[in-house]
Amino acid sequence: MATTRTILILPGDGIGPEVCRQVRRAMDWLGRARGLSFTIQEGLIGGAALDHSGVPITEETMQQALAADAVLLGAVGGPKWDGVAFDLRPEAALLRLRSELGLFANLRPAKVFPALADTSPLKPDIVAGLDILIVRELTGGVYFGEPRGIFDLPDGGRRGVNTQTYTTEEIRRVAAVAFDIAATRSKRVCSVEKANVMESGRLWREEVTQLKAERYPGIELTHMYADNCAMQLVRDPKQFDVIVTDNLFGDILSDEAAMLTGSLGMLPSASLGKADRSGRRRALYEPVHGSAPDIAGRDIANPVAMLLSLAMMLRHSFGLMAEAELLETAIEKVLTGGMRTADIMAPGMARVSTGVMGDSILRALDKTQAAA
Ligand code: IPM
Ligand code: MG
Repeated sequence: MATTRTILILPGDGIGPEVCRQVRRAMDWLGRARGLSFTIQEGLIGGAALDHSGVPITEETMQQALAADAVLLGAVGGPKWDGVAFDLRPEAALLRLRSELGLFANLRPAKVFPALADTSPLKPDIVAGLDILIVRELTGGVYFGEPRGIFDLPDGGRRGVNTQTYTTEEIRRVAAVAFDIAATRSKRVCSVEKANVMESGRLWREEVTQLKAERYPGIELTHMYADNCAMQLVRDPKQFDVIVTDNLFGDILSDEAAMLTGSLGMLPSASLGKADRSGRRRALYEPVHGSAPDIAGRDIANPVAMLLSLAMMLRHSFGLMAEAELLETAIEKVLTGGMRTADIMAPGMARVSTGVMGDSILRALDKTQAAA
């Protein structure tokens, strides 16, 4: 675990800055009430960086990210930048960060808070108590595979190409993360691919099976095709515990899993690199939701996914388990108390702004700390 705590905050676009503001307040609270010191740097990413310096992330910001103990990211993108060159689009900065920081394991926990079981579009009995974790491979597959591009054809038409590729090493390292985490949970992993159609999926299944046989005898491993998994996630999500899957399937299935919890505004994520000898790993924490340009600047965004991402940072980068739990407990109390941002609003609850949600969570932190 790192002893210094240099955090690079990249608020980005849309609602990113609004939810990151609440994270700054929670970090100030941790300083005041728990004596934790953080060295905080802030930078631009995505459309904000593009407008400022003509690139979605500068070399200087890249260097800061490489040197930081953890990066906290809001969101990138928006219709304003729809017309920019493909390699300059806001999302390119995020993909570059993931790739150059080597953040191959993306943890996306979908947990239904008891107070929100009614908010899910699914029936409460299907989602109540849901607590699953999607481990998404993040630096390989079709997102980065070569060749790629749009090519002219002799007949005047064009051909768009992307390549799905995975190596033994890429599959084994992310599967190992899933198995290690499963060992601390219900000891079940479901590996998801399309081995019935894709060679890369067949290799995925073989390598995951092999790794389990070699190193994880105590874990129960099952396999599922991605289309079936998408269906099972809405039919009976509680059958799952840890799901491990590739970059593209993980992108899709994690949006689906997020919605089971009531709102995309509830889901945090951690993206982790390989641990060095001291156990330190590069890490980036971000909400699964995007920049939500339609509601940006109106102080109505839900800051919970961003704050839960901060809790994941405390836990995974700094081993601050007690503080992570404090924050999660405070959030749970506020939800149980009936506070709701617009996205999770329900009859009889109090609809509050981003800022008021932040205020309430800080107050709940004070109370939780006093009671401890
Ligand atoms: C996510 C997002 C990103 C992705 C986009 C913004 C590039 O959807 O983190 O899930 O596709 O990985
Ligand atoms: Mg996505």
